[in-house]
Amino acid sequence: MGSVEKWIKMPVIGPVLLLGYRYRTASGYIKQQRQRFRDWLWKSNETTNYTFNLEGWNERYLAAFLSEATNRPYEEIEGYLDEIRNDVALRSHIESKTAASDYVMMADPEVRLGKRIGWYALVRALKPQLVVETGVDKGLGTVVLAAALLKNRQDGFPGKVYGTDINPKAGYLLDGPYAEVGQVLYGDSIESLRGLTEPVDLFINDSDHSADYERREYEVIAEKLSPGAYILGDNAHATEELFRFCRATGRAFVFFREQPKNHWYPGGAISLGFFNKTS
Ligand SMILES: C[S@@+](CC[C@H](N)C(=O)[O-])C[C@H]1O[C@@H](n2cnc3c(N)ncnc32)[C@H](O)[C@@H]1O
Repeated sequence: MGSVEKWIKMPVIGPVLLLGYRYRTASGYIKQQRQRFRDWLWKSNETTNYTFNLEGWNERYLAAFLSEATNRPYEEIEGYLDEIRNDVALRSHIESKTAASDYVMMADPEVRLGKRIGWYALVRALKPQLVVETGVDKGLGTVVLAAALLKNRQDGFPGKVYGTDINPKAGYLLDGPYAEVGQVLYGDSIESLRGLTEPVDLFINDSDHSADYERREYEVIAEKLSPGAYILGDNAHATEELFRFCRATGRAFVFFREQPKNHWYPGGAISLGFFNKTS
């Protein structure tokens, strides 16, 4: 070993010798994030539930992920993603409802759907009769789910979505034609889930994101799921509750991570729990 390598291997001395090189390489990443953060501070009104688009490669990975999880061809899933990307009526509905809403301090005029395009493709692929989404906030996910259900209905597969939210002002985007296939149940989510009487084909957890509350939602919904139901967790980047539920009930568990485009937020996730037909 040369004398420089010997010094570099030494504690404290090594990091000090490499300081300039390491500073330059790491600060490139931080500088980019800082710029995105500054842009967002000046250009966005969002205070929570940030919206963004996904990187192109991340959308293709999402299609591959959903193709594996649903056992449908990649091209079919890509077709559904194209459908939602090009849904002009949905975009203008979201824009006009956002402009007219009381939530205006918390919502930007630009429509950015992020992982919800994956929710759309999942509903198009699975053709569920009943979707339940806990925690609707403005209703962005709910209206995307409703758009998929309207397309399914055109194709001869009717279905509906129930959203839940504790906030009586939540869900304003679920309106017009989209409200034909959806409804928000106001009140505590777990109480609303207890009241469900029909089998649930797709369950989406996105309400109170504490681990304890998330676990209790899975416990309550467990007995209401149809045999081939899918569970979508929006929180698996933060808790392991869906993973644990799937391990305990013999379900497959798969995970997709969002990569936001030009946003400082590190991204959320889609995790899925389901009985794997091939195993
Ligand atoms: C992350 S947001 C939901 C985002 C939404 N799914 C979307 O696609 O944009 C979480 C929502 O859960 C609601 N929430 C929090 N605790 C709740 C509870 N105990 N019962 C029902 N809703 C709750 C909040 O009011 C908030 O609107």
